[in-house]
Amino acid sequence: MDARTFIAKLDAASELQHITTAVSPTFEVARLIAQHDGQPVLFENLTGFPGWRLAAGYIAQRAHFGRAIGCTIGELISKMSNAVAHPASPPKISEAPCQQVVIGDVDLTRIPIPRYHPLDGGPYITAGVAVIYDPDYGRNLSFHRLMQIGKDRLVGRIVEQRGTHTAWGKTDDGLPMAVCIGLPPHVLLAAAMSPPKGVDEMAVAHALAPTPTVRAKTLPLDIPAEAELVLEGYLTHELATEGPFPDLTGTMDGTRKQPIFHVTTITHRKDPIFHALLPAGLEHKNLMGIPREPTIYAEVSKIVKCTGVRITPAGCSWLHAAVQIIPQGPEDARRAIEAAFRGHTSLKHVVVVDTDVDIHNPADIEWAIATRFQADRDLMILEDQPSSSLDPSARQIPGQKARTTKMGLDATIPWRAAREGYLRVRYDTPSD
Ligand SMILES: Cc1cc2nc3c(=O)[nH]c(=O)nc-3n(C[C@H](O)[C@H](O)[C@H](O)COP(=O)(O)O)c2cc1C
Repeated sequence: MDARTFIAKLDAASELQHITTAVSPTFEVARLIAQHDGQPVLFENLTGFPGWRLAAGYIAQRAHFGRAIGCTIGELISKMSNAVAHPASPPKISEAPCQQVVIGDVDLTRIPIPRYHPLDGGPYITAGVAVIYDPDYGRNLSFHRLMQIGKDRLVGRIVEQRGTHTAWGKTDDGLPMAVCIGLPPHVLLAAAMSPPKGVDEMAVAHALAPTPTVRAKTLPLDIPAEAELVLEGYLTHELATEGPFPDLTGTMDGTRKQPIFHVTTITHRKDPIFHALLPAGLEHKNLMGIPREPTIYAEVSKIVKCTGVRITPAGCSWLHAAVQIIPQGPEDARRAIEAAFRGHTSLKHVVVVDTDVDIHNPADIEWAIATRFQADRDLMILEDQPSSSLDPSARQIPGQKARTTKMGLDATIPWRAAREGYLRVRYDTPSD
């Protein structure tokens, strides 16, 4: 199901906010997305951009992914794990919606690329999925924020040693790259995953839901046919300053010299919908956090029965997790803490709870900490660990991974304690 069909379904269920008043992509769009964070929004009247619409928030809820893939929220982890374990080669079609309009005379200023914050380095594409081909590992899909610096130029944030950066390093004349915007939820989710090298994220997407592909107009790349907009071009070896721009943490990321993406052709639908991902908004958080849950789940499951993992949004959907287990022995919760850190190396704080605690409810997690946890007995501190570079409080060491102190909280009922005293009184039991 393409993004616009998905958005139409949200509309049919009265879940879509239509914004019909004139709104400028410069700051105004971002302000309104932030006001509606968590809700799907469609901007239908963009000042200066007739013919364009702009969507946000259509993957701001976990349920959106479930709906797109056809599963419950609880089944998401197993669906993602299965798709990585059994990727399915996507079909190729010859005529695609994303190529209804083909523009050789590139002018990015005709696209409603938002400016999010006055301190930003410029207008930013935030929901663009870059499709590239690596001669050793094959096709790779990944997100790269792109700052517009000219009519046909953007500068990308290309994190070192990941798929795009590695492939780019193997080229002399620039890496052919197609940036696809306005993608279906399941393709966005697959692109946000980090399967083992050599696993094609498009095949992961097709294992989640049908994902037709089409040959790009000017590049030797097969791309998602259902995109709304595609920028074809080359990731050059020319560098420019990228940033500042807000990070996932909601704090400002600084500037770096990064590769310039030279756009040579634009293709889009006749009435295109631009997708804008608010930095540190719930869409951004979902895409970052949800793909880490299966990797934590897999590690914890190696040592104890794991019944759920939740990367929590208040922990930036990156630094905090709650893990639900059925302990079988006195050390299981502590071993689950260590396993969770192995499953997501950027994780900083983790809380382990029993199955009667709802890991999707922050109040329930805090209740477990309040009533089952003693710091001298149940707190695990791991000093000087490799950490996320996104954490402003981590120790940054130039040229190396940042370092942090990690903390695990065992908020399970103490082993062999009389359980009755720890169970929550329920008022929902029907009376006789
Ligand atoms: C919403 C979102 C935004 C991201 N932005 C960037 C970015 O600007 N630059 C970057 O290098 N990686 C970014 N990432 C991470 C890449 O997508 C990540 O490198 C990729 O999933 C890793 O897989 P790979 O090694 O197969 O490329 C982002 C991820 C998400 C989910």
